Amino acid sequence: MDALIDSYQRVITYLRVSITDRCNLRCVYCMPEEGLAWTPTHEILTYDELTRIIAIAAKRGLQKVRVTGGEPLVRTGVVGFVNTLTHIPGLKEVALTTNGVFLKDLAAGLYQAGLRRVNVSLDSLNRETFSKIVRRDIFDRVWEGIKEAERVGFDPIKINVVLQRGVNDHEVIDFVRLTTERPYHIRFIEYMPCANWDTWLETYKPFTPVMEEIQAAFGEMVPVSLSNADNAGPAVNYRLPGAPGVVGFIHAVSHDFCDTCNRIRLTADGKMRPCLFSDIAVDFREVIRSGCADECIDDLLSQVLYIKPKYHELDAIPKEKKLVTMVNIGG
Ligand code: GTP
Ligand code: 5AD
Ligand code: SF4
Repeated sequence: MDALIDSYQRVITYLRVSITDRCNLRCVYCMPEEGLAWTPTHEILTYDELTRIIAIAAKRGLQKVRVTGGEPLVRTGVVGFVNTLTHIPGLKEVALTTNGVFLKDLAAGLYQAGLRRVNVSLDSLNRETFSKIVRRDIFDRVWEGIKEAERVGFDPIKINVVLQRGVNDHEVIDFVRLTTERPYHIRFIEYMPCANWDTWLETYKPFTPVMEEIQAAFGEMVPVSLSNADNAGPAVNYRLPGAPGVVGFIHAVSHDFCDTCNRIRLTADGKMRPCLFSDIAVDFREVIRSGCADECIDDLLSQVLYIKPKYHELDAIPKEKKLVTMVNIGG
């Protein structure tokens, strides 16, 4: 079978799979307080359907799957699904991004299922600030989840921090200091215009002053290349001299990483999106439910590669279309 190479010779090795659009938090940058109109269950791909698509992609050289949501740990059977994924021939890496609420309960089971890499969203180290961002008083539980993941052996544990000006940007130094104490990878993420396009610029925080602040406090950071660099996401990583942890930056808005993009995305309702910021997609659900042969799924994958844009279209697309629903796409 042909490798997963797009029209611009980029090799696709990394699939992000959203297994549900539901979530038990209400992060201000992601969704409104009342939640969203969740996709009905029968419109969400089953685990068998997901496994079939992923196994076919793995035959074509897919190496990494990241399970995302919404919040993936709210979907029943997620541990069994991860176990299935870690046994798919050819896949080298299975990872999961979670808000951490159920991590304390599920970390041991996920580790037993073969998962080794977990990314947890934690936008503040302060309980009250965190409660305001996620609209739930849940800091202690998420923190205990991170500790439990560390205890059962997850490595690395990455902590995602969406930086917002005037909301949590006063905690940059505290987060960086944490990398001198614990082996965590703290990844600052630029706030993307998704749920709150109208107010986005009020709290958007570019990284240049952040880097300057860190340098003034700690001196130069040392660039690091992680062991799975080929299949990695877009973070640029550094380490403070001697620190066990890593400081990463995801230039989600001001980025220039399209040239080296290795990713495609499968939404919870079965659409394969070749780019985060483009609503072009190929529908796998109807084809797979029509009793198709594996060759048809293979053809659909080729279509996704064919339509993958050279660059994201964030600046060009009209305002109303910028409202990408992250919960369905999975980030
Ligand atoms: P690793 O596999 O550990 O490198 O993680 P990752 O950074 O790929 O995954 P994670 O789910 O932790 O995503 C972190 C952030 O990166 C999320 O906010 C994603 O939306 C963002 N991100 C990942 N890929 C892209 C991309 O192609 N474009 C943009 N703008 N953001 C991206
Ligand atoms: N901007 C940046 N990151 C976001 N995420 C969700 N919404 C946004 C946004 N508007 C992040 C979450 C999670 C990851 C999958 O995506 O915090 O860590
Ligand atoms: Fe849930 Fe993640 Fe959205 Fe927060 S960002 S509401 S944790 S899906």
